[in-house]
Amino acid sequence: GDRYPHQVSGGQLQRIMAAMALISDPLLVVLDEPTTALDVTTQIDVLRAFKRVVRERGATAVYVSHDLAVVAQMADQIIVLNGGQILEDNGTAALLKSPNHEYTRQLLDAARPAAKIRLDDVARGTAPLLTIQGLTAGYGPRDLHGLPRIRVLEDIDLTLHRGQAMGIIGESGSGKSTLARVVAGLLQPCRGEVTFDGQPLSGDLKGRSADQFRRIQMVFQNADTALNPMHSIATILGRPLRAYHGLKGAAQRRRIDELLDLVKLPRSIAERRPGALSGGQKQRINLARALAATPDLILCDEVTSALDSVVGAAILELLAELRRELGVSYLFISHDISTVRALCDDVAVMYSGHIVESGSRDALAQAPFHPYTNLLVNSVPALRQGWLESTAVTCKLPPISAPTANQRELCTFLNRCPLRVEGLCNHTAPNRRTLVGGSDILCHLDSAQLSAGQPTLVLPIQGAYA
Ligand SMILES: Nc1ncnc2c1ncn2[C@@H]1O[C@H](COP(=O)(O)OP(=O)(O)O)[C@@H](O)[C@H]1O
Ligand SMILES: [Mg+2]
Repeated sequence: GDRYPHQVSGGQLQRIMAAMALISDPLLVVLDEPTTALDVTTQIDVLRAFKRVVRERGATAVYVSHDLAVVAQMADQIIVLNGGQILEDNGTAALLKSPNHEYTRQLLDAARPAAKIRLDDVARGTAPLLTIQGLTAGYGPRDLHGLPRIRVLEDIDLTLHRGQAMGIIGESGSGKSTLARVVAGLLQPCRGEVTFDGQPLSGDLKGRSADQFRRIQMVFQNADTALNPMHSIATILGRPLRAYHGLKGAAQRRRIDELLDLVKLPRSIAERRPGALSGGQKQRINLARALAATPDLILCDEVTSALDSVVGAAILELLAELRRELGVSYLFISHDISTVRALCDDVAVMYSGHIVESGSRDALAQAPFHPYTNLLVNSVPALRQGWLESTAVTCKLPPISAPTANQRELCTFLNRCPLRVEGLCNHTAPNRRTLVGGSDILCHLDSAQLSAGQPTLVLPIQGAYA
């Protein structure tokens, strides 16, 4: 009660907003995308709070969202709106089971992204394309040991092969974008080695060769700010073609047409400016610009997060197709585990600057998980009614005494871990170990101990290997 709004978290703010909306004992509450900007782990608490309060007050609520799985938890009845028109008005159970409108069907499909790539479709190189070893990085001035005031990434190890799609997931603030920045050469690491195609990759842009520049490209979350609004699409795509390949005139024009074909946009779009394009089209232009360099690695940082689910699903499909056709590799960053699992054959889970679990998509499809992965996986709303009430995410933490070791060396998930063990987790640093499913975790607990604390959960990968 004594704090100012900027001193509380996003989830807390949303709960305060909910409390404010209910001060006047309203008959009707309108909730407009109240959890869209939140992590799934926070969303679950906020949804439960909203639902309880609305029920207790006997109020009527209209819950507006682009996320069908969220709406399915909150509503008895769902209206599907598109282009200003009501396309379907149906009870929640009926709508989920047998949607009447084609657009509702698309929404349902987009909410369950199918795995788009069969591993045997992609020629995977055996030599690593990108290796990261013992990477530590952060922001602010360095201390005597060369470590930054704000330490973000700690001892990151990662290997990416040619043609591979590696997913990085974790909630906001875990250091995903910082990792991309280091690989892109936008942030100098403090410790550790990064190599690209066998050559050391300098942390400083000045130390990189023109070829290294060309071969690593980046696509950002915000398609709007990444494109110069004053330039035509032809100018935007022409620039890297000229810089990296020396293409001019008719040859450049032909390549622009090819790039627009690749990202499935009409060639006529070349004359337009970004302002005249939709969000999905802009993101396709960003991809085309990255592809103009004919890169080996594309760093994708939350590229579908700002798009609605149907448009985002089409971008994922395009990424999968480009990878199949061009053999390009992705470091695919997202806070959304289902997006990552739809596109990537390997996944690394980040928490507070550490990779706490890594493994193949299949290894990460089945419990036991690292306790943080388990929390993430169980926090993603499922497309069925009653999920919110039944999901195994618990807020109860076993009591634990104050840590006895240097805080930095202990497990970073200690304060939130439902399986933490007194005298062990608050006492010694966790080790890396391999679980029965094949993934590597950073944890004190072994498969049997984790399984005992985690209900068996098998995640279907819809459409995979079909
Ligand atoms: N330029 C910066 N200066 C200081 N701290 C930063 C800067 N950029 C990011 N951070 C901090 O680094 C941490 C990780 O941020 P980021 O890599 O953006 O996480 P993510 O992409 O996973 O959300 C956060 O705590 C964030 O506040
Ligand atoms: Mg980020």
